[in-house]
Amino acid sequence: MSNVAPSSPEKLAAGNWKMNGTSADLSILETIIRDLAPEAGAGALICPPATLLSAAAHLSKATPLRIGAQNCHEAATGAHTGDISAEMLRDAGATHVIVGHSERRADHRETDDAVRAKAEAAQRAGLTAIVCVGETEDEREAGRQIEVVTSQLAGSLPDGATADRTIIAYEPVWAIGTGKAATPADIAEIHGAIRSALSTRFGAQGSAMSLLYGGSVKPANAAEIFAVENVDGALIGGASLKAEDFLAIHSALAAA
Ligand code: PGA
Repeated sequence: MSNVAPSSPEKLAAGNWKMNGTSADLSILETIIRDLAPEAGAGALICPPATLLSAAAHLSKATPLRIGAQNCHEAATGAHTGDISAEMLRDAGATHVIVGHSERRADHRETDDAVRAKAEAAQRAGLTAIVCVGETEDEREAGRQIEVVTSQLAGSLPDGATADRTIIAYEPVWAIGTGKAATPADIAEIHGAIRSALSTRFGAQGSAMSLLYGGSVKPANAAEIFAVENVDGALIGGASLKAEDFLAIHSALAAA
């Protein structure tokens, strides 16, 4: 961890494969690695399922593509059958871990406290935590989106979070996997509120944290999303399972 904040947030295209992918799908990574523009000025990360982490990390070794995980346990070791610690993910070759994705908040009842503990575990293990926040459709319809997102953010981030080890992903639940991305105006509103909360709490570190938008990002809408202020990249679900779509989104980010 560095106490000196970078001068600006890193641009990052991050793919989240969710519970998709077997060894046959490593060919997607091979294509991404082959065609990823090295001078692009935007980072690229794929988070495959845990079963593929080692093989994915092996394939991407000495290439610009980085590999991340989708979840971790808060403890380093112990009697937690079926769980995987941040230290184990790092050992398998991950550099990043997604924590607090809305699917985990919903399917596994993960609270802000649980997400914060996972983000702390990531820091402890030397991984960068991609901390996800986002309102539901009902919360947006009630006009509570800023309140919900800033409260999740406050509860899910550990004290002392730094820009080199913390990325925020704003993913409105109603936009995930629906084909209905948030509008640039919606994204600008929330990303502005997130940036301001981060700068207030973490100072220069908060100003330099990367803010990703997630929810139905595809090649067709990437450029308009990346043109929005305080958008430093994307967390990409469905489109990251197609090498050409992921690469097109990455190119749009590099050009933004
Ligand atoms: P989507 O998923 O791109 O398929 O909407 C995004 C995510 O959940 O990270």
